[in-house]
Amino acid sequence: MNEPTSKFGNRNPKTRIAFSNGAKLRCLVMGGAGFIGSHIVDALVGKGHDVRVFDLPHISMENLIQLTEAVVIFNGDFNNIRDISNALDGVDVVIHLVGLTLPGPSNQNPVYDVETTVIGTLKLLDAAVKKGVKKVVFASSGGTVYGIPNILPIPEAHPTFPLCSYGITKLMVEKYLELFRHLKGLEYTVLRIANPYGERQRMDNVQGAIAVFLGRVLVGGKITIWGDGSVARDYLHVSDLVTAFLKVIEQDTHERIYNIGSGHAVSLKNVLTVIKHVTGRRLCVEYTDARKEDVPINCLDIGLAIRDLHWHPVLSLEDGISRTWEWMRNHGNWNRGQTLRGSRSEINNG
Ligand SMILES: NC(=O)c1ccc[n+]([C@@H]2O[C@H](COP(=O)([O-])OP(=O)(O)OC[C@H]3O[C@@H](n4cnc5c(N)ncnc54)[C@H](O)[C@@H]3O)[C@@H](O)[C@H]2O)c1
Repeated sequence: MNEPTSKFGNRNPKTRIAFSNGAKLRCLVMGGAGFIGSHIVDALVGKGHDVRVFDLPHISMENLIQLTEAVVIFNGDFNNIRDISNALDGVDVVIHLVGLTLPGPSNQNPVYDVETTVIGTLKLLDAAVKKGVKKVVFASSGGTVYGIPNILPIPEAHPTFPLCSYGITKLMVEKYLELFRHLKGLEYTVLRIANPYGERQRMDNVQGAIAVFLGRVLVGGKITIWGDGSVARDYLHVSDLVTAFLKVIEQDTHERIYNIGSGHAVSLKNVLTVIKHVTGRRLCVEYTDARKEDVPINCLDIGLAIRDLHWHPVLSLEDGISRTWEWMRNHGNWNRGQTLRGSRSEINNG
């Protein structure tokens, strides 16, 4: 799939739906009980917006425990049109964070990936048009949509050749968003997110190297690294990611696709060095075979977001890991109701 034709811009610029700064918005956060979603919900409530959360019925709402009075929770499956229809009534902005697969494991079952992520999103977009939603904000993946980079940092206009089905389905959703805008006037902004980490991220071997490593350190367990530790990623604390979401939820944007990361690549070995420093613990690390789906390096060019959204990340990796470690030490037994995406481990891609 090809990307924007201009050097750093998107093909159809100028999102204009007249959101004025300070207006109270009715927001529906799809997947709002998850790691990123719950932080966005916190921030939206803090800014006085009217917030609804849509998430699966059988999962723990622990991430939102402090907000149960402040938000309306809709339980259901986003692949079920009846479930999402009620939740969309009167909504201005949908923040689409439902995640059903992970980068590496998605290659084991691309059919499932397309059937759930893509088809589910199409049903959501269709319903959003019918209900008069003004805008959709979509969490895409800056860590996978580009594939192996031919320049660093990677701009939004870089060619897209994902090494995993997850990255392909993210791109498919991006393309359908543009189609729905073109045909039906549904506005959207895509954030191609790098590698977010922080409080509430699962530490039980699912996604996110930093959370997984800290979780192992917490219990004195062994950290497993695929490859020699040179794989480098662009790590962003979730608080910085949330400020980017707020920017595109609350205001018009000049472009429709933004990279959101730190703009720096840090190797797994260097992450371990910071973790050792922050935790003061001895690390037990084992190295195993590298995986084919892991690109050697990912680092996003965030110039467009800085210039256009007046956004920039503020937390250093060390400060972000300190905050995450502090939280983990206080929530050592924290876990979500169940493993939503199985017990697959996924630590390297965003
Ligand atoms: N965490 C990352 O490293 C990262 C990086 C780039 C992009 N993203 C994307 O951001 C989004 C949020 O990621 P996250 O890390 O917060 O994941 P998460 O698993 O913590 O949250 C996803 C939420 O979606 C909900 N969900 C899953 N299937 C559902 C269904 N059928 N119906 C309703 N809800 C369902 C889950 O219950 C969960 O609360 C995902 O789309 C993910 O692909 C994440």
